[in-house]
Amino acid sequence: MRILGVETSCDETSAAVIEGNRVLSNVISSQSVHLQFGGVVPELASRAHLRKIIPIVEAALEKSATRLTDLDGFAVTHGPGLIGALLVGVNYVKGLAAVWQKPFIGVNHIEGHVYSNFLGDSGVEFPFLCLLVSGGHTQIVIIDQHLSYRLIGKTRDDAVGEAFDKVAKLLGLPYPGGPQIDRLARGGDENYTDFPIGLSREKTFDFSYSGLKTAVLNYVNQTAPETLRAHMPDICAAFQKAAVGALVERTIRAARTYQIRQITVAGGVAANSYLRSQMSAAAEPYHIRVHFPEMQYCTDNAAMIARAGLERLQRGYRSSLKLNAYPSLQLGEEKNCE
Ligand code: KG4
Ligand code: ZN
Repeated sequence: MRILGVETSCDETSAAVIEGNRVLSNVISSQSVHLQFGGVVPELASRAHLRKIIPIVEAALEKSATRLTDLDGFAVTHGPGLIGALLVGVNYVKGLAAVWQKPFIGVNHIEGHVYSNFLGDSGVEFPFLCLLVSGGHTQIVIIDQHLSYRLIGKTRDDAVGEAFDKVAKLLGLPYPGGPQIDRLARGGDENYTDFPIGLSREKTFDFSYSGLKTAVLNYVNQTAPETLRAHMPDICAAFQKAAVGALVERTIRAARTYQIRQITVAGGVAANSYLRSQMSAAAEPYHIRVHFPEMQYCTDNAAMIARAGLERLQRGYRSSLKLNAYPSLQLGEEKNCE
């Protein structure tokens, strides 16, 4: 099956053409308009999606040498995300499906992140455990078979990506802060100061990031600006040690507890270089396999939406022209699909 995927849930306008696990094109346009505001402005995101969606889809078709008539179906993110942003993609794809008389399917953005693990020759097999880490989500899920999710743990407050972004803002770094902290921390001493790991006294698979964020805020308020500037890489490394430490400890313990031999990591924070090295090192003694998607499939992209959509279309799932956008859609929640 050759599928066109479209993703517009936040500040990336993306379109991709895939065939099976093979990505034929994956075009991503990141909106720079939000930089000056230090975060995503929903109305500006929707307007930018409106301007870009047609050229981005055309670029994805051209790059993959695909005509609309060659496609077997369309997949589009219908939640969770910003309502105005989601509506642009959903309605555009509904229009394509109606005009070209092709099947189409609404895809859960988080399910898309899980399916980024199947793109290319990943060799990922069931059952596997997925650590989902993005700007809006921090969850551990066990996946025994296609499209089935057992939630093992989740954040009780902030998502880890959100913690990266908020801490970066406290430190005066530009949005999105995750990649900035990742880069700076590489030259820092992670033991320069100690930041707390949320819920470290509980035997839980849940996460908490609000205490860590407050600890960094207090540290910044109590430290002279010149000291902060001089030790920026050290502070980033110490924060990252606590934030990523929780992810690695819970994930490895969950895999051992549920006797799962394969871990996958998905979502924007899966691009973090420290998480990539720490998770692999921690899993090795237990002979647990760790798979990270390629970098371009970690942050928001349409190839992962196309791949999840392909799985659903192959199993006979279809959306109707009544498909709506759902800002708070949960993983495993089914909406408006026939
Ligand atoms: O999956 P994603 O692109 O969008 C959402 O669905 O939220 O994830 C975006 C999040 C942001 O919080 C961003 O700071 C974080 O992923 N991120 C990173 C890195 N690259 C992106 N966090 C830490 N290290 C990175 N290298
Ligand atoms: Zn995402």
